[in-house]
Amino acid sequence: MNINPRKFCVAPMMGFTTPYARKLYRILSKRAFLFTEMVPSKTMLYSKTRNLIIENNSENSVALQVGGAEPNELAECAKIAKNYNYNEINLNVGCPSKAVQKGGFGAYLMNEKVLVRNCLEAMVESADIEVSIKCRIGIGKEFNYDFFCDFIDEVIKSGISIVYVHARNAILTGLTTKNNRTVPPLNYDFVTRIKKEYPYVQFILNGGIDSIEKALPLSRIYDGIMIGRLIQNNPFFLSNVDHLFYKTTTETKFNEKIIIEYFQYINERLYKDSMFRLLSPLLNIFFGLPNNKKFKTEIQSVIKNRKIDEIKSLFLQFFDKKQVNFNF
Ligand SMILES: Cc1cc2nc3c(=O)[nH]c(=O)nc-3n(C[C@H](O)[C@H](O)[C@H](O)COP(=O)(O)O)c2cc1C
Repeated sequence: MNINPRKFCVAPMMGFTTPYARKLYRILSKRAFLFTEMVPSKTMLYSKTRNLIIENNSENSVALQVGGAEPNELAECAKIAKNYNYNEINLNVGCPSKAVQKGGFGAYLMNEKVLVRNCLEAMVESADIEVSIKCRIGIGKEFNYDFFCDFIDEVIKSGISIVYVHARNAILTGLTTKNNRTVPPLNYDFVTRIKKEYPYVQFILNGGIDSIEKALPLSRIYDGIMIGRLIQNNPFFLSNVDHLFYKTTTETKFNEKIIIEYFQYINERLYKDSMFRLLSPLLNIFFGLPNNKKFKTEIQSVIKNRKIDEIKSLFLQFFDKKQVNFNF
């Protein structure tokens, strides 16, 4: 069956969608379309630790998300994404954080549609790689469909044909980044309407999809869906994705092999990165559980001592006792 590879996307999440998380996600789902965290263009071009940040390890399909607003820099970033074997480079036009606004990129760019078009054009021209954007539906408190439509109309002149839409406005003053993911109301209707006007562009719906009951029907209505916090809180949800969203006949077997394979991977990277970053893809699910104090204390002490085998066996014990409800 010819199913859109972006039918189910895992959203870019700073501090979470690291190469380690993507490894875990890929163990759980062979088909989900993954994203890196947002990497500022200057970090991509000049950081000495670039390799650690944008390592890909062939966990394709993966998009590298970049933050920036200078066409020349972004063109270079597109070449880097190609060299690192990413499937796509995605421009962040949705992040409302103060630091990102100060840098003149992210959601702030929704007010600069011509500049966004120029950035995308430079990226499209510089490398043989898919270029896309992730944006909001507007800026400020009021909904304004014409504003959204004008923005899309301009940016797709760059030649891009994939747009991920976090279907709420960004409020750039007086609201934290976190609250910008909950306070501005969702408006999926704008995504439905824009798709009708530009049927040849893929619009992937993002925002507030927090259960499988919501995800499945939406994936049938829209070109694809993108999910962030549901996966951040419970990556094991991904074990159902290939079967449900890509109609594969094989299901990921839910057993301790997942933990073993993941630890094999991080074992090879033990002294290259912090223990927290290596383990954080797993920690969230276990830390989020109620009545779990003893496990948290044990884990924290073994993490401190970098005793990887003890950490692994703690996770395996936890898994074995089926203390987590994995029936989604
Ligand atoms: C911890 C965290 C970090 C995020 N970092 C990014 C990022 O780097 N780039 C981006 O475009 N969006 C980022 N987002 C926003 C998500 O990609 C997504 O648009 C948002 O969470 C709404 O989707 P959800 O309701 O499924 O979580 C982040 C969200 C979270 C929770």
